[in-house]
Amino acid sequence: MMDKNIVWHNQSITKEKRAQSFKQKPCVLWFTGLSGSGKSTIANVLEAELFQRNIKTYLLDGDNVRHALNKDLGFSEDERIENIRRIGEVSKLFVDAGLIVLSAFISPFESDRQIAGSLLEDGEFIEIFVDTPLEICEQRDPKGLYKKARNKEIANFTGVDSPYEPPRHAQIHLKPAETTLRESVQLIIDYLLQNGYIND
Ligand code: ADX
Repeated sequence: MMDKNIVWHNQSITKEKRAQSFKQKPCVLWFTGLSGSGKSTIANVLEAELFQRNIKTYLLDGDNVRHALNKDLGFSEDERIENIRRIGEVSKLFVDAGLIVLSAFISPFESDRQIAGSLLEDGEFIEIFVDTPLEICEQRDPKGLYKKARNKEIANFTGVDSPYEPPRHAQIHLKPAETTLRESVQLIIDYLLQNGYIND
């Protein structure tokens, strides 16, 4: 609950000033997709490529954030909603800091992704659907979690006994099972260049 005695303080170094100084347009690249779909892998390679180009970035990743800021949260529907709410707020702070933020979370619910997007200004939220079919994610099973979910050792696993709502209007639609990692990364770079978020 917000305390009525807390007053917003305007800061003189603004997002616009930071963006100008960094020569980039801050935004959030919001990766959504099933566990094992390739979100973290793509985000990681993309960040390295952007770093090479002297772009100021920050990568927020589900597994890592759940080790710290959100370590009190599990995978019930309510806890996932709170997980994404906090990530949305943190992403917004990093955008305010002038950065290009890469957020890689399953974020299975359309409404939560919408809320995360609504915290930002027009054009600052770029949804990237990492569209790898469940069968392939399950075949890969890099952490052995699908197997555990099928054996009922863990509950509420996305795609097994918890739903995933695919985005309907994602700005970028990746199909990692049909293309190379390089091609997926290049699609995002092209989008950023074409829409003036970064310069060549
Ligand atoms: S989200 O649904 O709340 O957005 P998030 O991306 O933060 O999920 O975390 C997902 C990661 O947590 C998965 O990649 C997986 O490694 C791990 N995990 C552990 N339990 C579950 C579960 N029940 N459902 C999905 N992922 C889980």
